[in-house]
Amino acid sequence: MKIENVEVRKITEEFGAPVYVYSMEALRAAIAEIKPLAPVVRYAMKANSNRRILKEMLAQGVKIDAVSVLEAQRALRVGFKPEDVCFTSDVFFNAGEVDYCLENGIYCNCGTLGMLREYGQAQSRLGKGSNEVSIRINPGEGAGHSKKTNTGGPYSKHGIWHENLDEAKAIAKEYGLKITGAHIHIGSGGDMEHLKRLTGKLVDFAKQFEDLQIVNFGGGLPYQYRTDLPQAEIADYKPILRERVEILEKHFGRKIVCEIEPGRRFVAGCGYLLGEVRSLNHTFDESGKRLDYVLTNIGFCHLIRPMAYGSYHPIWFDGEDLGPEQELIVAGPVCESGDVLTQENEMPVPRKLPMPRAGDVVVVGGAGAYGMVMASNYNTQPLIPEAIVDGDEATLTRRRQTLDDILQEEVLE
Ligand SMILES: Cc1ncc(COP(=O)(O)O)c(C=O)c1O
Repeated sequence: MKIENVEVRKITEEFGAPVYVYSMEALRAAIAEIKPLAPVVRYAMKANSNRRILKEMLAQGVKIDAVSVLEAQRALRVGFKPEDVCFTSDVFFNAGEVDYCLENGIYCNCGTLGMLREYGQAQSRLGKGSNEVSIRINPGEGAGHSKKTNTGGPYSKHGIWHENLDEAKAIAKEYGLKITGAHIHIGSGGDMEHLKRLTGKLVDFAKQFEDLQIVNFGGGLPYQYRTDLPQAEIADYKPILRERVEILEKHFGRKIVCEIEPGRRFVAGCGYLLGEVRSLNHTFDESGKRLDYVLTNIGFCHLIRPMAYGSYHPIWFDGEDLGPEQELIVAGPVCESGDVLTQENEMPVPRKLPMPRAGDVVVVGGAGAYGMVMASNYNTQPLIPEAIVDGDEATLTRRRQTLDDILQEEVLE
C-alpha cells in the first residue's frame, strides 16, 4: 500500500512504527475544498498543530483559530501575524492569557460572561489593547459525533447562553468594550443540517450588536470516516453562509465579515497512523463463538478516538502474504481492555479484514485530526514521530520522543 507514491513499508522502515504520516496532496485537496466557503477561513489548529501543516495553511491564506495562548504562540512561530489569529479560550482565560492578547494585538472571542468582564478589566488595567472583542454564543442546541464533542445546548459548558445576551451588552458598556464579533461553534463531527440551521440562529443573535463587524459560524464541518460511504457534501454551505451574512449586511447597512473555523475536515483525511502487527490471540464468547484479536503496537496512547468516543477508523494491513478476509478485532499494546481500534459502545467489534501476520504493517486511516494532538505518555510510551509525504518523498517533521525526553521533565530531588 502506498501513501501518494511512497510504500508504507518504506516509511515504517525509515522512521519506525508507530508513526503518523500526513499526505500533502490530500491536505491541499482539503484546503482547496474548504477555502472557498467563506471570505475568512480559519484553521482550528487544535485538530493538528504539526508545523508543516500550519505552514501549508499559512502559504494558502488560511488563518488561525487558537484555543490557548500557547497555540497562538505556536502559530506565530510558524509565521502567522497576530492579526491572523483569533483566540477562543473556551470557558476562562488562563493566567496571563488576556494580557498577552491585549499586548500583542490578538483578537479575543469570549466564551462566558466572566471572560468578557475579565477582558474589560484587563483592558482598563493595562490601558492598552483593543476594546473590540467577540463573544461566543451558546445557541441552545448543538451537534457532535459524540455527546462529548457537542458544544451547544444546556449540557455544554461553552458559550454565553443565548438568553443572556443583554448581560453581555451591559458588561461591554460598563467597560467601554465594543462587541464586534458574534460566534457560535456547536460541536465537532456533527452534521450539515444542524450547522446550516444554527447559522440562522446566529444571525438573529448577531443583529442585536450594533458594533458588529464579524460573524463567525465556527467549525464542525463533518468528515466521513467510512470509506464505503460518500464524503459529506460541504459545497452548498457557501450560499447558505452568504445568504446569512447578506441579511446582516442589509440590517446594518455595511459590510460584515463572514468567518468559519473548521479543524477536522481540513486534516482528518490526510493523516495515517502506521504501526506493526505484533501477534495474534483469541478468546471464546459466552455462546462459544471464537473472537480473533490482531495485536498491533498502536495503542490509545497514540490514537485515543476509538477508546474515547467509539470512533470508527478505516484499517488496512500491508504484508506479503495476507490471508483471506475474516472477522477480526484489532487491538493495541496498552494494559486496558478498552485498547481496541475496532470498537463501539465500549465493546470490541470484529471487522472483516484479511488475516495479517506478525511483522505486517497496519494502517489506520482518517488519523489526521485529533490524533497526534491527543496522544499521551500513558504506559511510559514515548510520543511518536510525524512524517510528511509529498509526491515521491517522505520526510520526518517530528522525531520520536525518548525515555530521556520524558524523564527530563521530572524534577529530581
Ligand atoms: C472553538 C472551536 N472552533 C472550531 C473547532 C473545530 O471543530 P472541528 O474540528 O469539528 O471543525 C473546535 C473544536 O471542537 C472548537 O472548539
